[in-house]
Amino acid sequence: MSANQIKTRQELIKSYLDFFKSKNHKIIPSSSLIPENDPTVLFTTAGMHPLVPFLLGQKHPLGKRLADVQKCIRTQDIDEVGDNVHHTFFEMLGNWSLGDYFKKEAIKYSFEFLTKNLKIPKENLAVTCFEGDRINKIPKDEESSKIWQNLGIKKEKIVFLGKEDNWWGPAGQTGPCGPDTEMFFYSKSKTQIPKAFNPKDKNWVEIWNDVFMQYNKTNEGKYMQLNQKNVDTGMGVERTLAVLNGLNDNYQTSIFQPIIKEIEKISHKSYSEEKNKKPMRIIADHIRASVFILGDDHGIKPSNTEQGYVLRRLIRRAIRYGKLLGIKENFTSKISKAVIPIYSDYQELKLNEKIIINELEQEEIRFNQTLQQGLKKFEEIIKNIEKSKKEISGKDAFLLFQSYGFPIEMTQELAREKILKVNLKEYNSEFEKHQTLSRTSSAGMFKSGLADNSETTKKLHTATHLLNEALRIILKDKNIKQKGSNITPERLRFDFNFPRKLTEYEIKEIEDLVNKKIKEKIKVTREEMPLNKALSSGAQAEFGAKYPSIVSVYTIGSFSKEICTGPHVSNTSEIGHFKIIKEESVAAGIRRIKAIVD
Ligand code: ALA
Repeated sequence: MSANQIKTRQELIKSYLDFFKSKNHKIIPSSSLIPENDPTVLFTTAGMHPLVPFLLGQKHPLGKRLADVQKCIRTQDIDEVGDNVHHTFFEMLGNWSLGDYFKKEAIKYSFEFLTKNLKIPKENLAVTCFEGDRINKIPKDEESSKIWQNLGIKKEKIVFLGKEDNWWGPAGQTGPCGPDTEMFFYSKSKTQIPKAFNPKDKNWVEIWNDVFMQYNKTNEGKYMQLNQKNVDTGMGVERTLAVLNGLNDNYQTSIFQPIIKEIEKISHKSYSEEKNKKPMRIIADHIRASVFILGDDHGIKPSNTEQGYVLRRLIRRAIRYGKLLGIKENFTSKISKAVIPIYSDYQELKLNEKIIINELEQEEIRFNQTLQQGLKKFEEIIKNIEKSKKEISGKDAFLLFQSYGFPIEMTQELAREKILKVNLKEYNSEFEKHQTLSRTSSAGMFKSGLADNSETTKKLHTATHLLNEALRIILKDKNIKQKGSNITPERLRFDFNFPRKLTEYEIKEIEDLVNKKIKEKIKVTREEMPLNKALSSGAQAEFGAKYPSIVSVYTIGSFSKEICTGPHVSNTSEIGHFKIIKEESVAAGIRRIKAIVD
């Protein structure tokens, strides 16, 4: 297939996965957008995210060579969305070596795929490599540069850059990380390609990143060589598809065209008019991301905390830009109907279509009740600001949030448009005064991060399995299934289907049963087996989750058997004392338990 023939995301994905299959990689399914075991992030931000335990040395059931396309959400660049390349939701193609091949093969595979399969002439390519870090004694990556040169990339097309550009991870405090080499494609003209590569020239578009994860950053901030040297790569589907089609605007690819067309239809405006581009891109991007969050089987709904808050922010920002575009009617659910068919390969979207449409409709109705009045209030507030101050007080920003439903980021954006600032510190203290919100955007939850493998986390993981089983026994309902799980070093959180509130007596009985199993000192064992075998042997699986064909199964005596990637303690006696601290409803028919061990 030539580059010119690749017109759709499906063709690009197939071409990539087929290539790596031919290089003995096993294809793994996209994981959920909501990380299961990572307290430091709200969303899966890269393909490597769900693979962290395996990058740290745990054996992957499918072997040492993997490839996939992973759905991702990154919100740290949300303010950039509206230009031609930025997105909050995107798909990332990736291939991994878990202690198998390293720099030479990784770069060779990348070069072969780009030049042979995508038929990109090597003259159109340029690369960056890591320039080294003297303080931490990490050498300049001459090795990668040599490999590129041996493949035919001229020296003038190779630039060495520092940690800001050519280093990946750990996004949290500790974890696997290493230098990377990034590949750029000259997008302006097929013939007049500059002789030398200038990374500041925006016509060179980054399309792929090969990370050589050979270090582990320790708590003391030291970079130790990992026993297992890994490769982690990432290629953005949207951007690559655009450059292959000679487009310098991702929103003109076949991925976005049906969405843009729908927005044009609803707004009676044309995307070709420059002033309409930004609002149309923001609407297309934010509704596409919202569709994926709502469709992710985790029951995330617009709310004022965690993922629900991000979702609310995306939907409300799209609605405001809809108004700027002159759209009078409710429109977000109509856009979602244009998004879902583009992604027919993600069955969860089709299955959750009703939920997606309904939640968008409800959120739009809710926000429309206060939006116009809120905007009026905003105008009033800025009229009364003293000229010298140029700042909206935290109290006013909080009023806009609480009474008119304006996410703080929206108030900040409105303020920026008037060259004003918002007193965020004061807003945050107002906010804390009014409610104890666990974690929102202001708590830095949008950064990428890595899974936590601390002892407490292991205890909580194993306690979660005991809880899962105890619920079915005490509530006498075999159909209870895990609907979501999240573990931080402080607590476990477990969502499951059940129609009503639990009684105090039931909660006590569940705690007692879990503590009984802890006291019984039961061994925790792990084995790998085909998914079918695991399911037919009665292993618990999360409802709606996608699993690879070979899975890890953790067994706790005859009490519990679950498909899980871990990590776990080796004996229940290590857990300590289990206590439920909260039981609440998260959505119709879904209950949530938070529990601790001490
Ligand atoms: N993890 C690397 C990235 O996201 C490949 O760019």
